Amino acid sequence: MTVSRRELVRRSKVSRTFDEIHGTNTAGRVTVENLQIESANREHGNPYDPVPASLFTRLLDNVKVRHEDYVFLDLGSGKGRALLLASNYPFKKVIGVEYSQPLHAVALNNIARYRSDHRRCFNVESVHIDATEYAIPLEPTICFFYNPFDETIMRAVLTNFRKSLERCPRDVKFIYHVPLHVHLFDELGFSRDQLLLHEPTVADVQEAMRDLSAFYDNLGDVQVAQGKPRAAQACYQASFAVREHQAKSDPGNAELQYDLSLSYAHLAYAHLLMAIQSTEAREALAAGRDILAGLVAQFPDDARWQQDLGWFNQQIAALKN
Ligand SMILES: C[S@@+](CC[C@H](N)C(=O)[O-])C[C@H]1O[C@@H](n2cnc3c(N)ncnc32)[C@H](O)[C@@H]1O
Repeated sequence: MTVSRRELVRRSKVSRTFDEIHGTNTAGRVTVENLQIESANREHGNPYDPVPASLFTRLLDNVKVRHEDYVFLDLGSGKGRALLLASNYPFKKVIGVEYSQPLHAVALNNIARYRSDHRRCFNVESVHIDATEYAIPLEPTICFFYNPFDETIMRAVLTNFRKSLERCPRDVKFIYHVPLHVHLFDELGFSRDQLLLHEPTVADVQEAMRDLSAFYDNLGDVQVAQGKPRAAQACYQASFAVREHQAKSDPGNAELQYDLSLSYAHLAYAHLLMAIQSTEAREALAAGRDILAGLVAQFPDDARWQQDLGWFNQQIAALKN
């Protein structure tokens, strides 16, 4: 085996993901078919996609309240990434509501495992229930919607809020990402001061996709460890597809090009594990090398690119022997 495993791991850890830093499992998209939802509202829900950490922090930093007085409520909380990030603020309590049992189970595990020097709230829970059936806390609340469901459910949830506020007036603010149904807030008599709307930017989408490709790489690593090179190759291929798309959509972005070279290295590794695939491995290494050669030509003073170009050349030379 010419491609050293340790070396690959070093290369793929250039930018550590949220889960690698905190020992959690929050990454990866989970489609509605795989959520095992019994609720009749299944057809109105969106797939699981975790909020990018930097986006969450940017949004929360814009909410000027005394956190100690507020509950943070994530409706459609999935594996709980937003709950963990919210626990870095001194909220009175952090609550996630999720209708998928498997995602809720992962969230419970994440809450127990999360370690961060920034953590300020230790009262964090995930509740397994449909958002329309959840009894809203009778306390000042910051409610987070990270693109969880369609207009039907959004209307039902906001109607519950409206009734609850009529019974027990208190301050409630909403953070609403991808605000497709913002008209509902007007219809149901909420004030615009209660709303922090957020349209995703190109940078947000890029961060989410980087997260996703790192997730597939990690899955691939697990398959390798279990001696399943074919399954590993499928995971690395999925990561590659995301990175290729990103690199094509922003060809001037050196970091995205570099990420793509990592995927070529992973693919070469999987091909080599399958023993008979050395032509594919050579092609993947050559493609990775070409990317690095381009980066070196563009940034001749950056030692990182030089070093990695040397690494690709070494692997290619070793394959020839
Ligand atoms: C885009 S993810 C958001 C994940 C999380 N809020 C975060 O920021 O990391 C949307 C989540 O909403 C959940 N969901 C969709 N409809 C729901 C409903 N009616 N009740 C509870 N959860 C729901 C999905 O299962 C999925 O986990």
